[in-house]
Amino acid sequence: MPKITVIGSNMYELTTYTDHLPHRGETIEAQDFAEGFGGKGANQAVAAARLGADVTLLTVVGNDYFGRQQQQNYTDNHIHSAGILVGHQGSGVASIFVESTGANRILIVTRANNELTPAVIDAHLDLIKNTQLIVLQQEINLVTNYHVIEMANKYHIPVMLNPAPANLELDINYVTKVTFFTPNEHELATITGLPTYTQPEIKAAGQTLIDAGVQNLFITQGRHGVLWMDQHHSEQIAALPVMPVDTTGAGDAFAGSFAYYYTAGAPIGTAIKLANQYAAISVTRYGTQTAYPTKYEMRKMDLPFQFE
Ligand code: RIB
Ligand code: NA
Repeated sequence: MPKITVIGSNMYELTTYTDHLPHRGETIEAQDFAEGFGGKGANQAVAAARLGADVTLLTVVGNDYFGRQQQQNYTDNHIHSAGILVGHQGSGVASIFVESTGANRILIVTRANNELTPAVIDAHLDLIKNTQLIVLQQEINLVTNYHVIEMANKYHIPVMLNPAPANLELDINYVTKVTFFTPNEHELATITGLPTYTQPEIKAAGQTLIDAGVQNLFITQGRHGVLWMDQHHSEQIAALPVMPVDTTGAGDAFAGSFAYYYTAGAPIGTAIKLANQYAAISVTRYGTQTAYPTKYEMRKMDLPFQFE
């Protein structure tokens, strides 16, 4: 079983499904509502675990009802409990609005996630040393991520950094120290300060990161697939054409499943294709983690790529 450690956020999700959004000061009636489990770190951990990885998630849930629900969710998904910490504040929450096109808008309040500090990392160094890949996102403090990257480099453990949500302050000197850096085109625009509306613009913006020393850059572009660039080549890897109903957590489905496929032995290009497929399935289903298939479900599907 490939061993993965995800260090990052968890959020309790309150999702409203609506055919349109209200204007300021307006109240409208929406069509449906669901509670769910989310947060980019937790989502990536759950995707990897459902595919069969041995996953440790280092995260801080709140000292409340939402936090207890999250703990049960990790148990249900066979994620190790050693890294599930209970903070002093309330749980991180995400208010999500999904329109009938499948497009989403998300407001997060990080709360207990802020308690994942460099000191907490130092207290759990065994989770960093004893793993094949560390996976990071940006819903915890950047300084914590920087500290993890330094520790991982020290112990020669590869890191994947998914820079979501975008943060203008992200220091490129740490980005060059990770093995996989996976912005979407919007995050790429924030990081580089360059336009990313067209494919040539995306490639040019990506090239500035490669020139700065980024090792493997995956620019995820939803239905347009992924542009993989490294120091020697660049390659556009197509997405599976699907009809989206809810794209929430698709980026996390990609990151978490890539982590699984790569640590399970797939070459990088193959792992990207498989992760594209996993993310595509997730957008055809409602919800975030509820949309992530298990390896058993995947085996029963008629898919272009199968992986053992
Ligand atoms: O990436 C999607 C996630 O962002 C959702 O699960 C939501 O909770 C926010 O953290
Ligand atoms: Na979905």
